[in-house]
Amino acid sequence: MRQLRGQERVITANRQTSWAFADAFVAEDEALHRARERARELGLRSVSPGTGAALRLLAGAADAKAVAEIGTGTGVSGIYLLHGMRPDGVLTTVDPEPERQQFAREAFREAGFAPNRSRFIPGRALDVLPRLADGGYDLVFCDGDRLESLDCLAESLRLLRPGGLVCFEGVFADGRTVDSAAQPAEVLRLRELLRAVRESQELMPTLLPVGDGLLCAVRRG
Ligand SMILES: C[S@@+](CC[C@H](N)C(=O)[O-])C[C@H]1O[C@@H](n2cnc3c(N)ncnc32)[C@H](O)[C@@H]1O
Repeated sequence: MRQLRGQERVITANRQTSWAFADAFVAEDEALHRARERARELGLRSVSPGTGAALRLLAGAADAKAVAEIGTGTGVSGIYLLHGMRPDGVLTTVDPEPERQQFAREAFREAGFAPNRSRFIPGRALDVLPRLADGGYDLVFCDGDRLESLDCLAESLRLLRPGGLVCFEGVFADGRTVDSAAQPAEVLRLRELLRAVRESQELMPTLLPVGDGLLCAVRRG
């Protein structure tokens, strides 16, 4: 038994090394570096390179023409999503902080995207999402207020076409989601979200161990 525990520790250490390798697998260009640097200056957390690459892959696999993003930040995730979308695709991105959206606008331009590839909507997700078209989106990416996760899930299901994808960033909450110690409301909400997505008959879920955990699900047809 003691020996088995030792092996488990080795496997865990190896896995951590492999996950770190996978997360840094995709190289980032100057535009992404600059957007990341601005986020750091503002004290914002951007998606990791591995999470960005997964989002780009999913947008590409879905041949996404319309993507909605909650939590623009300085544009790191937006650049990845735009790279994965169709060349005529439009990213609609929502954030209550106009200054951050201005940084993201500049980041998209620096990354080579024409202004008509993105639509910036200032505001809180739950005020803005109800105004967006039913079934009009191929992918919804949620990276805003964790306390609103369940409401964002409900809105996303309304926004997605059948076969569309919803993704939530940061569901590991730095390990707190699976930590049995008392946790803040934000983490309790994430647990409810994970349960709701896993148990929904409408969704086909997976939890990708990239970055701080990317919960993804396809809306069944
Ligand atoms: C972690 S940052 C997003 C980072 C961005 N997705 C990226 O990877 O570059 C979270 C963002 O959500 C925004 N936010 C906070 N509450 C929000 C809400 N209720 N609705 C929409 N966005 C919100 C914050 O202003 C912040 O810019």
